[in-house]
Formats: sequence, C-alpha cells, structure tokens
Amino acid sequence: MLRVQNLSKRFGGLTAVDNVSFEIEKGQIFGIIGPNGAGKTTLFNLITGNLVADQGEVRFKDQLITGKKPHQIARLGIGRTFQMVKPFGGLTVEQNVMMGALPKHASFADANRAAHDVMGMLGLTPYQNEEARSLPVGLKKKLELARALATQPSLLFLDEVMGGLNPTEVQEMMELIRFLNKENGITICMIEHVMAAVVALCEQIVVIQQGRKIAEGTANEVTSNPAVIEAYLGGEFAHAGA
Ligand SMILES: Nc1ncnc2c1ncn2[C@@H]1O[C@H](COP(=O)(O)OP(=O)(O)OP(=O)(O)O)[C@@H](O)[C@H]1O
Ligand SMILES: [Mg+2]
Repeated sequence: MLRVQNLSKRFGGLTAVDNVSFEIEKGQIFGIIGPNGAGKTTLFNLITGNLVADQGEVRFKDQLITGKKPHQIARLGIGRTFQMVKPFGGLTVEQNVMMGALPKHASFADANRAAHDVMGMLGLTPYQNEEARSLPVGLKKKLELARALATQPSLLFLDEVMGGLNPTEVQEMMELIRFLNKENGITICMIEHVMAAVVALCEQIVVIQQGRKIAEGTANEVTSNPAVIEAYLGGEFAHAGA
C-alpha cells in the first residue's frame, strides 16, 4: 500500500533521515520506534508532504506521491496526527473536527454528519461545544485523532497518540486503534514510545536510530535484537523477553 524507498532528509549538517526504506501492506498495523531525536517524526513529515525529501521516493497504491503537497496527499487517503497536537485552540471540538471533514464532503450537512459520526466513535460528543484549548491531554489526543479520521483516510499515521496518557487512557487508545484497523479497515502506521502498546498492536516494526533503519521485523524479532536493545530498549527489556 505504501512503499518508502531510500528516503533522506538533512537539516544543515544533520542527516535526520538517512536512506530509509520500508513497505506497509494494506490492513497492517505498522510500528516505528526508536530513541528521541532518531528522525521518526521527520520521516512522517516526508511521507505526508509536510517536508520535502532530499532523496528517495514514496509510493502510495503505486502512485508516486513524493513532491505532492500535504492537502493533495490527504485527499488521496493518507491521514495523520501531529505529535505536538495542533487543534485550533479557540474553536470548539465540533468545529475542529469539521475542519477535517469539510474538504472531503460535497455539502456542509454531509461533513457535519461525518464529523458527528467520528466524535461519537471517539466519545467526544459530550465535549463538542468545548474549546479545544480547554481540554485535558487525553481528550486533546482524541481530538487530534478525530481530526485525522474526519478526512476519511485509508492509511493513517499516528505520531505518539499515547504520549502523556494515563494507563487507562492508553488501554482505551489501544482498543480504538484496533477497532479502526479491524472494523473500519484503516491501515495504520504508528510512532510510539509505549512499548507495551507497540508489542500488542503492531504486526511489523521498523526501528530507527540516528536517521537510519537498524532493524525491521515482528515485535518478537525486534525486541530480541541485540542492536535494538542496545540502541533503544535498554536492560530491562533484555530480561523481559517480549
Ligand atoms: N525543522 C527542523 N530543523 C532542524 N532540525 C530538525 C527539524 N526537525 C527535526 N530536526 C532534528 O532532526 C532530528 C530528528 O528529529 P525528529 O523530530 O524527527 O525525531 P523523533 O524521532 O520524532 O524524536 P521524538 O521521539 O523525540 O519525537 C533531531 O535531531 C531534531 O532536532
Ligand atoms: Mg517525534
């Protein structure tokens, strides 16, 4: 469904993404892990058109999307959330979700219906008239997800949607991701530091360190890979197995 080939991005002297290639198959929940500053978010930005790559290409359903603008890529069916949540703070929850829904629908009424479907699914309906900026982090993350879902993606990129959530909220977010994948047929690619969630959800995982892909495989494979333990997981995971 998505093929990333030899993607690179430099910021001055720093190579943030260094010749990275991988492929996401339709229906997968795909994981991207690695230490802080490894280049994971930059990789997302290259795929979704928020940054222009120095090298390499990305194909979505065999169509070259490298060089396209974010809104063009979104229209093709690629959605994303931002690690630094970017709601319009002064707008309500409903208005924020409508911003995602409007470009995809012919009429305001259709967009409104779609926005309400998404809010209902995520449990945001009771907060629809609240200003986005007044929400606690758990609901902000849900709103970020709702905005992405309102664009009706077939492939959804999630950048640390579990960051800052408490264990109950993490559990709930995991169930949501599973539901979106299984029931709504959305292929998912997630960057996540909450390893328990990555291990439980992801069928295939890529590990990034200093811009480079250092491993790829199933949860069992990457969590038992000495290079991955050394670079990212540290001692405790070495004993825990997977
Ligand atoms: N716009 C930019 N200009 C210059 N340097 C940048 C820019 N964006 C990211 N970087 C640098 O590129 C490197 C990769 O950053 P990136 O945000 O992609 O990491 P990450 O893997 O998402 O980290 P985290 O897990 O902390 O979110 C870092 O060293 C970062 O400081
Ligand atoms: Mg990041």
